[in-house]
Amino acid sequence: MKLAEQADKTDKQQAPESHEAANGTGKPARKEIIKKFPVSCNLPNYESTYATFSWEEAKKEISYFAEGKVNAAYNAVDRHLHNGRRNKVALYSVDAAGKLAKYTFQEMHDEVNKLGNALKSLGVKKGDRVFVFLTRVPELYIATIAIAKIGAIAGPLFSAFGPDALKDRLHDGQAKIVVTSPQLKEKIDGIKHELPDLEHIIVVGGNAKDYKKGGMEIDYATLVADKSTHLACEQMDPEDPLYLLYTSGTTGKPKGVVHVHADILGQHMTSKWVLDLRDDDIYWCTADPGWVTGTVYGIFGPWSNGASCVSYEGRFDAESWYALIDRLKITVWYTAPTALRMLMKAGDDLVYNADLGSLRHILSVGEPLNPEVVRWGMKVFGLPIHDNWWQTETGMQLIANLPCNPVKPGSMGKPLPGVYAAIVDDTGKELPAGELGRLVVRPGWPSMLRTIWRNEPKFQEYFKIPGWYFSGDNAWKDEDGYFVFVGRADDVINTSGHRVGPFEVESALVEHPAVAEAGVIGKPDKERGEIIKAFIVLNNGYTNSEQLLSEIRDHTKKQLAAHAYPREIEVKESLPKTRSGKIMRRLLKAWELGLPSGDISALEED
Ligand code: PRX
Repeated sequence: MKLAEQADKTDKQQAPESHEAANGTGKPARKEIIKKFPVSCNLPNYESTYATFSWEEAKKEISYFAEGKVNAAYNAVDRHLHNGRRNKVALYSVDAAGKLAKYTFQEMHDEVNKLGNALKSLGVKKGDRVFVFLTRVPELYIATIAIAKIGAIAGPLFSAFGPDALKDRLHDGQAKIVVTSPQLKEKIDGIKHELPDLEHIIVVGGNAKDYKKGGMEIDYATLVADKSTHLACEQMDPEDPLYLLYTSGTTGKPKGVVHVHADILGQHMTSKWVLDLRDDDIYWCTADPGWVTGTVYGIFGPWSNGASCVSYEGRFDAESWYALIDRLKITVWYTAPTALRMLMKAGDDLVYNADLGSLRHILSVGEPLNPEVVRWGMKVFGLPIHDNWWQTETGMQLIANLPCNPVKPGSMGKPLPGVYAAIVDDTGKELPAGELGRLVVRPGWPSMLRTIWRNEPKFQEYFKIPGWYFSGDNAWKDEDGYFVFVGRADDVINTSGHRVGPFEVESALVEHPAVAEAGVIGKPDKERGEIIKAFIVLNNGYTNSEQLLSEIRDHTKKQLAAHAYPREIEVKESLPKTRSGKIMRRLLKAWELGLPSGDISALEED
């Protein structure tokens, strides 16, 4: 964007007093308010909508079949064939080499139907689990919608997962089919014998000759080639499962969060209000659909609103990102604090040298968004960055800086209409403004998790404070009802917006022959929010050396996931443990940060 244009845009968007604050002069961050006056937005009056809104009433925005049956896939794609959007571009897909492919809603519908018929021909039935392990290629979108359309349960998997991470998820989710690519399939080859329910691996983009007819591995193109573009949409009970999203807790392996077709109502309304999507928008969600943001706000929510979505297979790189915004004239951009911090580090000149004038709305999620970054956004893009809060479990945004409300840098915003969020103490008593406590939500929003796959007791733990959904986050609320994030109440690590359970990393570490014990913590980091730090005890016969530590790091990276390896490893003689033998991560963290040790009465004595 040219400087003059940008200044013009800034003036139009802001009240004069907040312009000063946005440029970092004067007001303390928490009191700072960025007022802007959007020409129009989908939710123009927060207060009155909050007072009168009902989810029951909002159902008219969604297409239901007779007797209240519904299908999220029908809402995302099929209905646009009958509402004037048939030939509108649904997906702009840019591959890693920069090649652009476009799919209209009609074309997406046809591809979805071919794959849906193919899955049925392989015996996939309602409720079966079909996992998608692909980079951001069009088939990822086609597969996710096709699985939902036939009533099977989709299991999105992040393409950076290694064999251990895959095995945990595919095994627990009892995967029947995995859709993948030849490169990613190699990571499944070594573990498939440990997956008793796995019947087929469908391979996208391979060489048809490599796959024998009737074998376990099937070539995607051959499979769909003779399939019909007609497929009746499965009419689902709203409470029937839609997808299974694995996420990390503090103890144990990743848990499969179960969401249902009724979620589409919450996904639709939040994409309309928070993303503020309109028919002429070109919308880019930078999150990978292997995570909740990429599935909910990269596929179902925006498509339910008939938006044109952008999918970019390439890696993060400031220049390429700006070039993509310019090339596709992206208007609405949903990204994450780590990416924004890296863009900020890459320098203002890159922004000024690009033409980003198409942008009209920027959003961020996943980790705390520094006020400094919001101010930088105002300076270089001429737009505030709208932070919002939700979780894999909540299935939709619950707290947000809406376009119609002033933005308070450092705050996640206010609860959306239809959502009651509060700060409570450990007994569930609501705390007044300004007091730090547990961030909880009154159950009843449509996209709330319905259970944890094969682990109902884990699900019940979210409701340990009667009458509330317990998020596991600590926060406070100001006098105007804006929520401010403070930290996790447990040991879950948030590195670059990825939720990582310390136990998973510890398990991967002790698989290495040199490692006897491991304790893992999140260590604050300027760019990534937190980095993973491991404390390990070596087995007899191993000596601490840089080479050994780098081997251990590589092992974790390869087995678990590229983002989940410990950037720092420290070798210790022993680790602090409770008398029952649990590693005290809290103490490791306090030592690392030079904080008081707190209550150590449970510490095991030597
Ligand atoms: O700790 C909060 C943090 O991310 C957690 C949810 O992670 P996940 O289930 O992977 O979903 C991420 C994308 C929705 C939360 O418990 N988090 C999420 N949004 C914010 C945040 N922390 C601070 N500010 C946010 N806006």
